[in-house]
Amino acid sequence: MKANKTSETSEAADQVIHEVDGIQEYDNKLPNWWLYTFYGAIAFGVGYWYWYESAQIGASPAQSYQAELDQAAAAQASEITVGEATPEALAALAKDPSAVALGKQVFTSTCAACHRNDGGGSVGPNLTDEFWLHGGAPEKIFRTIASGVPDKGMPAWQPQLGALKTQAVTAYVLGLKGTNVAGGKVPQGERESVSSR
Ligand code: HEC
Repeated sequence: MKANKTSETSEAADQVIHEVDGIQEYDNKLPNWWLYTFYGAIAFGVGYWYWYESAQIGASPAQSYQAELDQAAAAQASEITVGEATPEALAALAKDPSAVALGKQVFTSTCAACHRNDGGGSVGPNLTDEFWLHGGAPEKIFRTIASGVPDKGMPAWQPQLGALKTQAVTAYVLGLKGTNVAGGKVPQGERESVSSR
């Protein structure tokens, strides 16, 4: 028994590669499962770097997030159904956030040049006050936008924008109504109370 133990210790002593404070480290072979994990991680790392960083085949988190946002916006926009532009339908659209968001996009790209980004007016009249040249009721605003006032410099938009965008931008303009932005153009037309919206 005693001899056995000594031989074990001396065999082990051969393998000790260093000893610090009585803790001995042996020169053991690394287990295969460990080695495979290690080499696998390196191979994965190289592959990952190639796919996302070097060749950029895969989308970055920012890109895939943007793609999802675009998809969601498109899905929402296609959910907006347009029928007849009745006062009720327009009032309902004005309460629909995705219709209003689409309308805002249209307004910024198409209308802001003449009505200012916030609707305060420049070439075209102020859309944020209570005064209207062609009526401030939802269906009247829609008609002005859809058919325009060609001889006064307001183009007809329905032929260019189509029904959906024309109604959506009407919904957005209905929300501008009565916001009375600072520095807006002086009132033009007849006063109509905000409560008529
Ligand atoms: C080229 C300049 C121009 C562009 C672009 C333009 N408008 Fe106008 N808009 C005008 C002018 C000018 C008037 C005033 C017409 C008048 O004097 O009768 C007007 C009038 C209006 C009115 C009626 C205001 C009232 O007091 O009754 C609305 C509503 C309106 N525009 C909305 C829009 C929307 C929405 C768009 C974008 C789709 C748009 N406009 C784009 C020039 C423009």
